[in-house]
Amino acid sequence: MASIPTDTLASDTEIVKNYLDRAELPRALGSDEVAGYREQIKALMAQKNAKLVAHYYTDALLQELAEDSGGFVGDSLEMARFGHDCDADILVVAGVRFMGETAKILSPDKKVLMPTLEATCSLDIACPIDRFSEFCDQHPERTVVVYANTSAAVKARSDWVVTSSIAVDVVEHLMDAGEKILWAPDKHLGSYIQRKTGVDMLLWDAACIVHEEFKARGLQDMKALHPNAAILAHPESPAAVLEMADVVGSTTQIIKAAQRVPQSEIIVATDQGIFHKLQQLAPDKTFIIAPTAGNDATCRSCANCPWMAMNSLESMLLSLQQESEEVLVDAELAAKAMLPLQRMLNFASAQQLQVKGKA
Ligand code: 13P
Ligand code: SF4
Repeated sequence: MASIPTDTLASDTEIVKNYLDRAELPRALGSDEVAGYREQIKALMAQKNAKLVAHYYTDALLQELAEDSGGFVGDSLEMARFGHDCDADILVVAGVRFMGETAKILSPDKKVLMPTLEATCSLDIACPIDRFSEFCDQHPERTVVVYANTSAAVKARSDWVVTSSIAVDVVEHLMDAGEKILWAPDKHLGSYIQRKTGVDMLLWDAACIVHEEFKARGLQDMKALHPNAAILAHPESPAAVLEMADVVGSTTQIIKAAQRVPQSEIIVATDQGIFHKLQQLAPDKTFIIAPTAGNDATCRSCANCPWMAMNSLESMLLSLQQESEEVLVDAELAAKAMLPLQRMLNFASAQQLQVKGKA
């Protein structure tokens, strides 16, 4: 494994801080206000044939609304699949920018709105297309595999797009075909894939500001207090945390594992938004958030993605009423980015068929 020498991490951190300083988080709503927003949004969605697709990290109110209005809550791969397959005229994507862009690329004929286009991701920010293209140009012999948490332009420059739920399987498949990999942008997920597969992989140097804050030292102390607890971790977490985990997986894979593992106490190393679904599906279990670095961490609220938190009922209603905050992707770029995305969806479908065949 090798990684690119980077002198830009400090400036990336600065860019992230600047975003966070500008970011406006939604205000808390009273129960009457919530009911009012829900009613108006549902009526508008029915009138406009719109569907809400939400990520597990978004506000529980948005997750509930998605589910009881015929929409969907899921991990990045499932969100992409649902958006692609559903027959809505308008998709409202509650999540972060790359999720909206993926939906638009896969469904160019649908109008894709977001509660706010300001919701981005530290991985996307830290992988600008000009620097990334240079990196690819320096290694033309490598297959370019990028994480879904990237811009449309970065996806368009890649051979494969993967999400955390399928990354190891795709890279294993490429390795079996004798390919060497260039990976971007998440160094922790990249090195996890590398350790799992043994593949020859060059890594971009970026990280998720939320997951990077989980610390193995604190986790050891927590495990000493809860010796029987299972540890479930998202692969964007640092290697020392992943080494301690009983299960490493995407948000959906974490939720499935929580239901499956015998332990009644579960320590979770991912964004706390996931606790809503965890508690819903495993009500008898106790969930504990894995320890983070604390107040000196880069993130505004540790284990809580500040961009996911920008999605609210208020901003969703506004975007739907005005059809504002529309995700637009240049058609030529979208056509290029569609290829590696479609490759991922096809791979995922083939894999599901195999799993069903084995059952
Ligand atoms: P999942 O694909 O596991 O939902 O992850 C998306 C993400 O941004 C995690 O930080
Ligand atoms: Fe990006 Fe991390 Fe937020 Fe996920 S949790 S959207 S990887 S910043």
